[in-house]
Amino acid sequence: MIETGADGRSWLLSGPTSSYALRLDDEDHLLHLHWGPRITLADVAALAGAPLPQWSFESPLDGREEYPVEGGPRFAEPALIVRTPDARGTGWAFGSARAAGDELRLAFRDPVTALSLTLHYRLRDGHDVVERWATVANTSPDTPLEVLRADSATWTLPVRGSWRLSQLHGRWGAESRLTRVPVGHGAHTIGSRRGHTGHGHLPWVALDADGAAGEEHGEVYSCALAWSGSWRLATRRLPDGTVQVTGGWGHDDTGLFRLAPGESRTTPVLAGVRSAEGFGGASAAWHAWQLAHVIPSAAQDRPVLYNSWEATGFEVSEAQQLALARRAAAIGTELFVVDDGWFGRRTSDRAGLGDWWPNPDRFPRGLAPLAEEVRALGMRFGVWVEPEMVNPDSDLYRAHPEWAQHVPGRAPTEFRNQLVLNLARADVAAFVEEQVHRLLESAPIDYVKWDFNRSFTDAGWPGQAFPERLWIDHVAALYGILDRLRAAHPSVAFESCSGGGGRIDLGILSRTDQVWTSDNTDPADRLAIQHGFGQLHPARVMAAWVTDSPNEQLNGRVSSLRFRFVSAMAGVLGVGGDLARWSAAELDEAREWISRYKEIRPVVQRGRLHRLLPPDGAGPSAVQYSLGDEVVVLAWLRAQSFGQPAAPVRLRGLDPGAVYVCQDTGQVHRAAVLLHHGLRTGLRGDLDAAVFRLRRAG
Ligand code: GLA
Repeated sequence: MIETGADGRSWLLSGPTSSYALRLDDEDHLLHLHWGPRITLADVAALAGAPLPQWSFESPLDGREEYPVEGGPRFAEPALIVRTPDARGTGWAFGSARAAGDELRLAFRDPVTALSLTLHYRLRDGHDVVERWATVANTSPDTPLEVLRADSATWTLPVRGSWRLSQLHGRWGAESRLTRVPVGHGAHTIGSRRGHTGHGHLPWVALDADGAAGEEHGEVYSCALAWSGSWRLATRRLPDGTVQVTGGWGHDDTGLFRLAPGESRTTPVLAGVRSAEGFGGASAAWHAWQLAHVIPSAAQDRPVLYNSWEATGFEVSEAQQLALARRAAAIGTELFVVDDGWFGRRTSDRAGLGDWWPNPDRFPRGLAPLAEEVRALGMRFGVWVEPEMVNPDSDLYRAHPEWAQHVPGRAPTEFRNQLVLNLARADVAAFVEEQVHRLLESAPIDYVKWDFNRSFTDAGWPGQAFPERLWIDHVAALYGILDRLRAAHPSVAFESCSGGGGRIDLGILSRTDQVWTSDNTDPADRLAIQHGFGQLHPARVMAAWVTDSPNEQLNGRVSSLRFRFVSAMAGVLGVGGDLARWSAAELDEAREWISRYKEIRPVVQRGRLHRLLPPDGAGPSAVQYSLGDEVVVLAWLRAQSFGQPAAPVRLRGLDPGAVYVCQDTGQVHRAAVLLHHGLRTGLRGDLDAAVFRLRRAG
């Protein structure tokens, strides 16, 4: 709901539990008034009456503006920095306000640079997530503009004694690990200058007042960026103690763009949510909003997938994949994905990227016969691609070496023997789109795992007057390609992968159906990765595979099928082990776990997540998903010591007067007991795990 103050210069946006308010002062400065619990227009008027502090040496505007720019009485780092041949900085005259549906637009104009700025605010019905973004347009008839920085938004927190910052940091094989640090003086900046979201950080922060929030209680503010290229999110404590979060595309000079006369650009969304119900409340708000407004077709549950990567690596053939598919179908998987190695001369990571036709030695009849067999087995069929890349040893590179990003005069930097194609070039983007389009026409393909296995290094573009534009334009081109491919092939689902979780963000999630969480498939490590991932994103997109034991990719850890399955059942279950080597007993057990997953799947993929016990230390950890009358608890024990029984796990969010029945044992549980005393899991020994399915019976 959007309300406008009586003077037409203040606005109040309200969701079910929170409000956001802002106003224009007499000099057209757009000031922040409120982000917190629901308030009324009368409260907004009271807040608007408070005078700005006046201190010599300090700016009265710093820390109080919705979108601080360079220019005028400001010292804080600006969200917007612009230069023309004659001027630098901006000064704004208010133009117009438009509240239409769930979106508020405030338009400004800078008479000196002829830049127009529109700030957008959207609060979807029934949600507390505020989406903010900005549009900049050059209205000059003849003068170009250079934009050195254009953040999506700046968020201002209320004054509190102190703030604690939560972030999700990582690296390849160890993504999205949650850490919390006090907010100090100055800036704490996270981001990526790699051309993709990166493994280093998910573009998300959460701040809790006085470091006092828990999973269920306390005031938490959280921001997340919808962009899959280089980015920056800075949490700043200004000299007067005000804390702001500002961010958007581009890191340092990787977000530069120019606006020709008449041209405009719209930044990605930087969304924010405020919860009074702790980190769990903030996550629940993020999840519900993504399921309703970000993730495509989120009402459809994701199938159980089989992926051949860990089983067969680059050694793939039609007969071998079919043999795997038969076993995968027999244990109940619903989607069979052929990973790397099926195309061009891709027999190792040294060759083939760019040549997107089936390898004639391996798939002499193309992919269609295998796809049809897989479908005849009752599964859907998927393939792996990495269309933004090229190996120098490929027909594509030999024909078009100039299509790869490169800096003239320097030797191209290879990672994994590959180079990045310059998708900012219209001809390259059209080629890439056509290749994937043709592939999808060539066989009954239902699923595309879209990978991106190296970061930008040689971001040059010979012959281009302003090569810096490739940082933003590559991602914009990727989004356009995905959007058009989805429109042309509406039944095809897409997975975002980047060496595991190197491209996970709200931008890619608005055009892909699930993401590959990490190349680390060790089920114990995964618990921590999943714990972090779920702070922002729902289980509905979090792909998790059961692979072989000992773990092949990472650490050789030995774990039971039970532990591996229960770990992976917390997300979109998949299997990635070498089924050709699994015994009949293992295949039987796998079939049982998969059938059990299918029973709990709607609750896991669409239910409300409660993180009951975090996976740190050796003790038990647990998550709960609740949907209607159904409750699912997944619990794990890392290591038991001294025969100490695992502590009971206290459930959350239940009606204390309710009674639940365990669907497996028939045991009756009183909700009041589950909430206060907990559920006894019976976990024992090392790496134990269990699933509990409870249904409300009264
Ligand atoms: C990346 C992905 C893996 C696999 C390989 C194939 O590393 O994360 O899952 O697809 O590429 O080369």
